[in-house]
Amino acid sequence: MCGIVGYIGPRNCVPIILEGLRRLEYRGYDSAGIALVKDGVFRVEKKAGKVADLVNHLNQFNGSLSAQLGMGHTRWATHGEPNDVNAHPHCDGEARIAIIHNGIIENYASIKTKLTREGHTFKSATDTEVLAHLIGEMYKRTNDICSAVRLALAEVQGTYGLVVIALNEPDKIIAARRGSPLIIGVGDGENFVASDAAAIVDHTRHVIYLEDGEVAEITASGLRTMTIDDEQIEKEIEEVTFELSQIERGGYDHFMLKEIHEQPDTIMNAMRGRLQVEEGNVVLGGLRDVHDKLMNARRIIITACGTSWHAGLVGEYLFEEVARIPTEVEYASEFRYRNPVITKDDVVFLISQSGETADTLAAGREAKAKGATVLGIVNVVGSSIARESSGGVYVHAGPEIGVASTKAFTSQLTVLSLITLMLARSRNTIDKTHAQVLAREMYAIPEKVKYVLENTTDQIKEIAEEFKRVQNFLYLGRGANFPVALEGALKLKEISYIHAEGYPAAEMKHGPIALIDENMPVVFVVPKDGIYEKVMSNLQEVKARRGRIIAIANEDDTEIDKLADFVVRVPRTYGYFGPIVNIIPLQLLSYYMAVARETNVDQPRNLAKSVTVE
Ligand code: M6R
Repeated sequence: MCGIVGYIGPRNCVPIILEGLRRLEYRGYDSAGIALVKDGVFRVEKKAGKVADLVNHLNQFNGSLSAQLGMGHTRWATHGEPNDVNAHPHCDGEARIAIIHNGIIENYASIKTKLTREGHTFKSATDTEVLAHLIGEMYKRTNDICSAVRLALAEVQGTYGLVVIALNEPDKIIAARRGSPLIIGVGDGENFVASDAAAIVDHTRHVIYLEDGEVAEITASGLRTMTIDDEQIEKEIEEVTFELSQIERGGYDHFMLKEIHEQPDTIMNAMRGRLQVEEGNVVLGGLRDVHDKLMNARRIIITACGTSWHAGLVGEYLFEEVARIPTEVEYASEFRYRNPVITKDDVVFLISQSGETADTLAAGREAKAKGATVLGIVNVVGSSIARESSGGVYVHAGPEIGVASTKAFTSQLTVLSLITLMLARSRNTIDKTHAQVLAREMYAIPEKVKYVLENTTDQIKEIAEEFKRVQNFLYLGRGANFPVALEGALKLKEISYIHAEGYPAAEMKHGPIALIDENMPVVFVVPKDGIYEKVMSNLQEVKARRGRIIAIANEDDTEIDKLADFVVRVPRTYGYFGPIVNIIPLQLLSYYMAVARETNVDQPRNLAKSVTVE
């Protein structure tokens, strides 16, 4: 949820940290701060607001801030409102150590009570400051910061990506991880620590992924990794694969718009080397070792959150209707706490862009503990879900920076379609000729997405202007386009703060129809498929109540103009692949609505890119 970056080495760390924070800001952006150690003095500066507010604050020092050891944090508030005091870093009572922390210390209240009884006083409302004081106490006993951190963490329940520096040990940074990602960037005579490779990829591509329960003592020229119980561990150095240009805006006004426009390429990247169009075959290396498990699966469970959950709902249609495998889709946050019946014959797919979503990770662990085969459909290479799964498929969408997920969604749908085709062929639920038709359909999708982007944008800008002042929206679709309606509504809510609901079109008459009047815009996703006529009846019902209709319809649909106020035309696409194309105008609509309402598109209020807390 929050961003962490730290540096130790010969260079001035201030610009390195501030640039790293800027790159991490999409992870959390309600306050930011830095701590530096220089000539035996701690310097802690922090500010509510964006990283730019911190930079403005630091400008008063006219560039005089400089240090070879430091760390910075950008926060998404959990405990305590976003203000200067609650911003990280936090120090112990005697300001001998400073810490930055992602995650939640669940037993902070009892630790705080105990420390208060012993005479500690706290400045902030955060759980992190309590942890700082606890580490400070341990430091008094050990005089060794690494041991102090380990001893304190042994008393802590909850999650952390933690970085600690100590005034009296200015030659090291301590990092520890449990449930919140942390990587060490290995440089030449300098080292980095970060919650995300984006923060340090300017400086090094060599990284070490810390695992849960691991602690690292990092100096400028080396590092030592160990467990909390001080058992030494050897770690491998891995290579970051993405390019710097992928985390830049590249001339677009917002990351979200850039990411929407990347989709013809990202969808193709998800298929590249995997889809054999002429043969109607799919090869997925990450599933090779679990192929038999998948073939014999009694049932597939897909679990995820938010947009990834919507992708899972489309997956249910694909797996059941094409590959004929019973499939259930669950919110990961519910799944993890409801003691689900799972057997070793179940295959559980975790879908996650970030690969770090706490609920999805926990759902996977629960399923694994119950004996299921757990597989990941993940974007971020090396993320926790990818590492903990027994196999899976990377979606290869590249870094997604906009908080509202767009290209990851269409890549997830593409991968789900690939898995479906692979399973359907292996299980003989479709013949080779049918598979070849589907493979050709899939291969044609990137061009169709490109067509939609090029041909609907101007019209969607006009629709956004028309509706930018409304307070509510309804999104309706049926079959595999019901999840598209849900996703369209979520996108609108997230970045333009307009209340929007997605429903299966036929459910409207069971309640939501009460909302329809001339002030209620209704978006219908209505391709010419097997249930077209049924959805058209739902359009009639809205029209009869003077609701205003925006239809996402196919180019050859001549009926739709009679009912809809606005018709956005998309190319016809094979039914279950249709969502990949049909979602594009809805992404554009939410984007241009947000622009028209002048909201912060890439950093919408209250949200964060990666939800690593419960
Ligand atoms: O990284 P994940 O795919 O696991 O994230 C799941 C949700 O938090 C995420 O999709 C969220 O709903 C997005 N903000 C949607 O735009």
